[in-house]
Amino acid sequence: SSAISGVLFLPDMISLEFGIYFFFFWIIKYCAQALEVSVGKVPFVEAMNGSTVLLPCTYSSCIGIKNLYFNWQYNDNGTMQKLCEAVIPAEGIEPNVLILHDRVEFVGSSKRSNISILLKNITFEDEGQYICFARNPKEKNRNHSAIFTLFVVEELKEVDDTLTVIIMSVIGGVVGLIILIMILKSLILFLLRRGPEKNKECLVSSSGNDNTENGLSGSKTDNKATPKA
Ligand SMILES: *[C@@H]1O[C@H](CO)[C@@H](O)[C@H](O)[C@H]1NC(C)=O
Ligand SMILES: *[C@@H]1O[C@H](CO)[C@@H](O)[C@H](O)[C@H]1NC(C)=O
Ligand SMILES: *[C@@H]1O[C@H](CO)[C@@H](O)[C@H](O)[C@H]1NC(C)=O
Ligand SMILES: *[C@@H]1O[C@H](CO)[C@@H](O)[C@H](O)[C@H]1NC(C)=O
Ligand SMILES: *[C@@H]1O[C@H](CO)[C@@H](O)[C@H](O)[C@H]1NC(C)=O
Repeated sequence: SSAISGVLFLPDMISLEFGIYFFFFWIIKYCAQALEVSVGKVPFVEAMNGSTVLLPCTYSSCIGIKNLYFNWQYNDNGTMQKLCEAVIPAEGIEPNVLILHDRVEFVGSSKRSNISILLKNITFEDEGQYICFARNPKEKNRNHSAIFTLFVVEELKEVDDTLTVIIMSVIGGVVGLIILIMILKSLILFLLRRGPEKNKECLVSSSGNDNTENGLSGSKTDNKATPKA
Protein backbone atom coordinates (compact mmCIF):
# COMPACT_ATOMS: atom_id res chain seq x y z
CA SER A 1 0.00 0.00 0.00
CA SER A 2 2.96 2.36 0.63
CA ALA A 3 4.13 1.89 -2.96
CA ILE A 4 0.67 2.87 -4.26
CA SER A 5 0.50 5.97 -2.10
CA GLY A 6 3.96 6.94 -3.33
CA VAL A 7 2.84 6.63 -6.94
CA LEU A 8 -0.20 8.76 -6.27
CA PHE A 9 1.83 11.32 -4.37
CA LEU A 10 4.37 12.02 -7.13
CA PRO A 11 2.01 13.64 -9.69
CA ASP A 12 0.58 15.82 -6.95
CA MET A 13 4.08 17.09 -6.12
CA ILE A 14 4.76 17.82 -9.79
CA SER A 15 1.53 19.73 -10.31
CA LEU A 16 2.15 21.73 -7.14
CA GLU A 17 5.63 22.65 -8.37
CA PHE A 18 4.23 23.67 -11.74
CA GLY A 19 1.63 25.76 -9.97
CA ILE A 20 4.34 27.59 -8.01
CA TYR A 21 6.43 28.11 -11.16
CA PHE A 22 3.49 29.52 -13.05
CA PHE A 23 2.66 31.82 -10.16
CA PHE A 24 6.19 33.24 -10.16
CA PHE A 25 6.21 33.53 -13.95
CA TRP A 26 3.04 35.57 -13.68
CA ILE A 27 4.57 37.77 -10.97
CA ILE A 28 7.73 38.31 -13.05
CA LYS A 29 5.73 39.07 -16.16
CA TYR A 30 3.49 41.67 -14.57
CA CYS A 31 5.56 43.05 -11.71
CA ALA A 32 9.20 42.94 -12.85
CA GLN A 33 8.80 46.61 -13.74
CA ALA A 34 6.81 47.86 -10.80
CA LEU A 35 6.62 51.19 -12.58
CA GLU A 36 6.67 51.65 -16.32
CA VAL A 37 6.69 54.85 -18.33
CA SER A 38 5.73 54.86 -21.96
CA VAL A 39 5.57 57.42 -24.76
CA GLY A 40 3.31 55.17 -26.83
CA LYS A 41 3.79 52.84 -29.75
CA VAL A 42 5.15 55.60 -32.01
CA PRO A 43 7.97 57.29 -30.05
CA PHE A 44 8.37 60.28 -32.37
CA VAL A 45 6.41 62.99 -34.13
CA GLU A 46 7.05 65.16 -37.14
CA ALA A 47 5.56 68.62 -36.84
CA MET A 48 5.68 71.94 -38.63
CA ASN A 49 7.50 74.91 -37.15
CA GLY A 50 5.11 77.24 -35.40
CA SER A 51 2.71 74.43 -34.46
CA THR A 52 1.91 72.93 -31.07
CA VAL A 53 2.90 69.34 -30.35
CA LEU A 54 1.82 66.84 -27.73
CA LEU A 55 4.70 65.06 -26.02
CA PRO A 56 2.87 61.97 -24.76
CA CYS A 57 3.79 59.97 -21.69
CA THR A 58 1.88 57.61 -19.45
CA TYR A 59 2.88 55.48 -16.48
CA SER A 60 1.59 52.23 -15.10
CA SER A 61 2.40 50.59 -11.83
CA CYS A 62 1.57 47.13 -10.63
CA ILE A 63 2.17 47.93 -6.96
CA GLY A 64 0.57 51.37 -6.99
CA ILE A 65 2.14 54.81 -6.59
CA LYS A 66 2.86 57.13 -3.70
CA ASN A 67 4.67 60.45 -4.11
CA LEU A 68 5.58 59.57 -7.68
CA TYR A 69 8.13 62.09 -8.91
CA PHE A 70 8.26 62.86 -12.62
CA ASN A 71 9.83 65.37 -14.95
CA TRP A 72 10.30 66.14 -18.63
CA GLN A 73 13.76 66.93 -19.94
CA TYR A 74 15.08 68.07 -23.28
CA ASN A 75 18.37 66.60 -24.41
CA ASP A 76 20.04 69.81 -25.60
CA ASN A 77 23.10 68.34 -27.28
CA GLY A 78 24.02 66.25 -24.26
CA THR A 79 23.01 68.66 -21.50
CA MET A 80 19.64 67.95 -19.93
CA GLN A 81 17.30 70.91 -19.77
CA LYS A 82 14.41 70.39 -17.36
CA LEU A 83 11.05 71.49 -18.78
CA CYS A 84 8.75 70.68 -15.87
CA GLU A 85 8.55 68.53 -12.75
CA ALA A 86 6.02 67.45 -10.17
CA VAL A 87 5.09 64.92 -7.52
CA ILE A 88 1.87 62.93 -7.69
CA PRO A 89 0.98 62.33 -4.00
CA ALA A 90 -1.28 59.36 -4.70
CA GLU A 91 -3.32 57.79 -7.45
CA GLY A 92 -6.07 60.12 -8.64
CA ILE A 93 -4.64 63.25 -6.98
CA GLU A 94 -3.63 65.87 -9.52
CA PRO A 95 -0.03 67.08 -9.26
CA ASN A 96 1.04 70.68 -8.78
CA VAL A 97 3.33 70.98 -11.78
CA LEU A 98 6.29 73.33 -11.78
CA ILE A 99 6.78 74.63 -15.32
CA LEU A 100 10.35 75.66 -16.23
CA HIS A 101 9.83 76.50 -19.91
CA ASP A 102 7.71 79.36 -21.31
CA ARG A 103 6.13 77.28 -24.09
CA VAL A 104 5.36 74.14 -22.07
CA GLU A 105 1.92 73.29 -20.72
CA PHE A 106 1.06 70.25 -18.61
CA VAL A 107 -2.02 68.47 -20.00
CA GLY A 108 -1.81 65.16 -18.15
CA SER A 109 -4.05 63.81 -15.46
CA SER A 110 -3.20 61.35 -12.70
CA LYS A 111 -6.71 59.94 -13.06
CA ARG A 112 -5.60 58.60 -16.44
CA SER A 113 -1.94 58.00 -15.41
CA ASN A 114 -1.11 60.57 -18.05
CA ILE A 115 1.84 62.96 -17.68
CA SER A 116 1.86 64.38 -21.21
CA ILE A 117 2.85 67.97 -21.99
CA LEU A 118 2.27 70.38 -24.84
CA LEU A 119 5.11 72.25 -26.49
CA LYS A 120 3.69 75.35 -28.15
CA ASN A 121 4.87 77.32 -31.18
CA ILE A 122 7.79 75.03 -31.93
CA THR A 123 10.95 76.20 -33.70
CA PHE A 124 13.65 74.26 -35.51
CA GLU A 125 15.79 74.45 -32.34
CA ASP A 126 13.17 72.39 -30.49
CA GLU A 127 13.99 69.34 -32.58
CA GLY A 128 15.51 66.47 -30.62
CA GLN A 129 14.95 64.04 -27.78
CA TYR A 130 12.51 64.62 -24.93
CA ILE A 131 12.82 62.37 -21.91
CA CYS A 132 9.86 61.50 -19.72
CA PHE A 133 11.32 60.48 -16.37
CA ALA A 134 9.58 58.97 -13.34
CA ARG A 135 10.59 57.59 -9.96
CA ASN A 136 8.37 55.79 -7.47
CA PRO A 137 9.59 55.86 -3.83
CA LYS A 138 7.49 52.73 -3.25
CA GLU A 139 10.09 50.72 -5.18
CA LYS A 140 13.36 52.02 -3.70
CA ASN A 141 13.55 55.06 -6.02
CA ARG A 142 14.33 53.12 -9.15
CA ASN A 143 14.56 55.40 -12.18
CA HIS A 144 12.35 54.90 -15.21
CA SER A 145 12.31 56.90 -18.40
CA ALA A 146 11.14 56.91 -22.00
CA ILE A 147 12.38 58.96 -24.93
CA PHE A 148 10.18 60.81 -27.41
CA THR A 149 11.74 62.41 -30.47
CA LEU A 150 10.49 65.57 -32.15
CA PHE A 151 11.28 66.37 -35.76
CA VAL A 152 10.51 69.90 -36.91
CA VAL A 153 9.83 70.36 -40.62
CA GLU A 154 8.97 73.25 -42.93
CA GLU A 155 5.68 73.66 -44.71
CA LEU A 156 7.25 72.28 -47.92
CA LYS A 157 6.52 68.81 -46.53
CA GLU A 158 2.85 69.25 -47.38
CA VAL A 159 3.61 68.92 -51.13
CA ASP A 160 5.07 65.47 -50.47
CA ASP A 161 2.00 64.60 -48.44
CA THR A 162 -0.42 65.52 -51.24
CA LEU A 163 1.72 63.55 -53.69
CA THR A 164 1.66 60.47 -51.45
CA VAL A 165 -2.09 60.94 -51.00
CA ILE A 166 -2.52 60.96 -54.79
CA ILE A 167 -0.28 57.90 -55.22
CA MET A 168 -2.03 56.05 -52.41
CA SER A 169 -5.49 56.82 -53.80
CA VAL A 170 -4.43 55.64 -57.29
CA ILE A 171 -3.06 52.40 -55.78
CA GLY A 172 -6.20 52.08 -53.69
CA GLY A 173 -8.37 52.56 -56.79
CA VAL A 174 -6.46 49.91 -58.75
CA VAL A 175 -6.60 47.46 -55.84
CA GLY A 176 -10.31 48.18 -55.43
CA LEU A 177 -10.89 47.57 -59.15
CA ILE A 178 -9.01 44.24 -58.99
CA ILE A 179 -11.07 43.19 -55.97
CA LEU A 180 -14.29 44.22 -57.78
CA ILE A 181 -13.27 42.22 -60.87
CA MET A 182 -12.47 39.18 -58.71
CA ILE A 183 -15.82 39.46 -56.91
CA LEU A 184 -17.67 39.80 -60.24
CA LYS A 185 -15.72 36.84 -61.68
CA SER A 186 -16.55 34.58 -58.73
CA LEU A 187 -20.17 35.77 -58.80
CA ILE A 188 -20.46 34.97 -62.52
CA LEU A 189 -18.82 31.57 -62.00
CA PHE A 190 -21.14 30.88 -59.08
CA LEU A 191 -24.19 31.80 -61.18
CA LEU A 192 -22.97 29.66 -64.09
CA ARG A 193 -22.35 26.65 -61.82
CA ARG A 194 -25.68 27.04 -60.11
CA GLY A 195 -27.78 26.40 -63.29
CA PRO A 196 -27.15 22.85 -64.55
CA GLU A 197 -26.08 21.27 -61.26
CA LYS A 198 -26.61 17.55 -61.96
CA ASN A 199 -25.29 17.63 -65.52
CA LYS A 200 -22.18 19.41 -64.32
CA GLU A 201 -21.38 16.67 -61.78
CA CYS A 202 -21.53 14.00 -64.49
CA LEU A 203 -19.37 16.06 -66.80
CA VAL A 204 -16.78 16.71 -64.13
CA SER A 205 -16.43 13.06 -63.12
CA SER A 206 -16.21 11.70 -66.64
CA SER A 207 -13.99 14.41 -68.04
CA GLY A 208 -11.78 14.17 -64.94
CA ASN A 209 -11.13 10.47 -65.60
CA ASP A 210 -10.42 11.15 -69.22
CA ASN A 211 -7.97 13.88 -68.38
CA THR A 212 -5.96 11.79 -65.93
CA GLU A 213 -5.73 8.92 -68.37
CA ASN A 214 -4.70 11.20 -71.17
CA GLY A 215 -2.23 12.97 -68.93
CA LEU A 216 -0.63 9.73 -67.75
CA SER A 217 -0.31 8.24 -71.19
CA GLY A 218 0.95 11.55 -72.52
CA SER A 219 3.65 11.80 -69.86
CA LYS A 220 4.69 8.22 -70.43
CA THR A 221 5.19 8.77 -74.14
CA ASP A 222 7.14 11.95 -73.38
CA ASN A 223 9.43 10.12 -70.95
CA LYS A 224 10.08 7.46 -73.50
CA ALA A 225 10.68 9.96 -76.24
CA THR A 226 13.25 12.06 -74.38
CA PRO A 227 15.92 9.37 -73.68
CA LYS A 228 15.84 8.31 -77.31
CA ALA A 229 16.45 11.87 -78.52
C1 LIG B 1 8.61 78.09 -40.62
O1 LIG B 1 9.92 78.30 -41.09
C2 LIG B 1 10.00 78.87 -42.38
C3 LIG B 1 11.45 78.95 -42.78
O2 LIG B 1 12.26 79.41 -41.73
C4 LIG B 1 9.32 80.25 -42.37
O3 LIG B 1 9.34 80.80 -43.65
C5 LIG B 1 7.90 80.08 -41.89
O4 LIG B 1 7.27 81.35 -41.76
C6 LIG B 1 7.86 79.38 -40.54
N1 LIG B 1 6.47 79.16 -40.17
C7 LIG B 1 5.99 79.48 -38.98
C8 LIG B 1 4.53 79.18 -38.79
O5 LIG B 1 6.67 79.96 -38.10
C1 LIG C 1 26.96 69.65 -29.95
O1 LIG C 1 28.16 69.49 -29.23
C2 LIG C 1 29.29 69.21 -30.06
C3 LIG C 1 30.48 69.03 -29.17
O2 LIG C 1 30.18 68.27 -28.07
C4 LIG C 1 29.48 70.38 -31.03
O3 LIG C 1 30.56 70.10 -31.90
C5 LIG C 1 28.23 70.59 -31.83
O4 LIG C 1 28.36 71.73 -32.65
C6 LIG C 1 27.04 70.80 -30.91
N1 LIG C 1 25.85 70.93 -31.71
C7 LIG C 1 24.91 71.83 -31.46
C8 LIG C 1 23.74 71.83 -32.37
O5 LIG C 1 25.01 72.66 -30.58
C1 LIG D 1 -2.94 62.23 -22.38
O1 LIG D 1 -3.65 63.44 -22.25
C2 LIG D 1 -3.63 64.24 -23.42
C3 LIG D 1 -4.35 65.54 -23.12
O2 LIG D 1 -5.58 65.32 -22.52
C4 LIG D 1 -4.29 63.48 -24.57
O3 LIG D 1 -4.25 64.26 -25.75
C5 LIG D 1 -3.57 62.18 -24.79
O4 LIG D 1 -4.20 61.42 -25.79
C6 LIG D 1 -3.51 61.38 -23.50
N1 LIG D 1 -2.70 60.21 -23.73
C7 LIG D 1 -3.12 58.98 -23.43
C8 LIG D 1 -2.20 57.87 -23.76
O5 LIG D 1 -4.20 58.78 -22.89
C1 LIG E 1 5.95 81.88 -32.29
O1 LIG E 1 7.35 82.12 -32.24
C2 LIG E 1 7.80 83.14 -33.14
C3 LIG E 1 9.31 83.19 -33.05
O2 LIG E 1 9.81 82.56 -31.92
C4 LIG E 1 7.14 84.46 -32.77
O3 LIG E 1 7.52 85.45 -33.69
C5 LIG E 1 5.62 84.28 -32.82
O4 LIG E 1 4.99 85.47 -32.39
C6 LIG E 1 5.18 83.15 -31.93
N1 LIG E 1 3.76 82.91 -32.10
C7 LIG E 1 2.96 82.67 -31.09
C8 LIG E 1 1.53 82.45 -31.45
O5 LIG E 1 3.36 82.62 -29.94
C1 LIG F 1 18.18 58.16 -10.63
O1 LIG F 1 18.32 59.43 -11.23
C2 LIG F 1 18.91 60.41 -10.41
C3 LIG F 1 18.89 61.70 -11.18
O2 LIG F 1 17.61 62.09 -11.46
C4 LIG F 1 20.32 60.00 -10.04
O3 LIG F 1 20.89 60.95 -9.20
C5 LIG F 1 20.27 58.63 -9.36
O4 LIG F 1 21.58 58.18 -9.11
C6 LIG F 1 19.55 57.63 -10.20
N1 LIG F 1 19.39 56.39 -9.47
C7 LIG F 1 19.61 55.19 -10.02
C8 LIG F 1 19.39 54.02 -9.12
O5 LIG F 1 19.95 55.06 -11.17
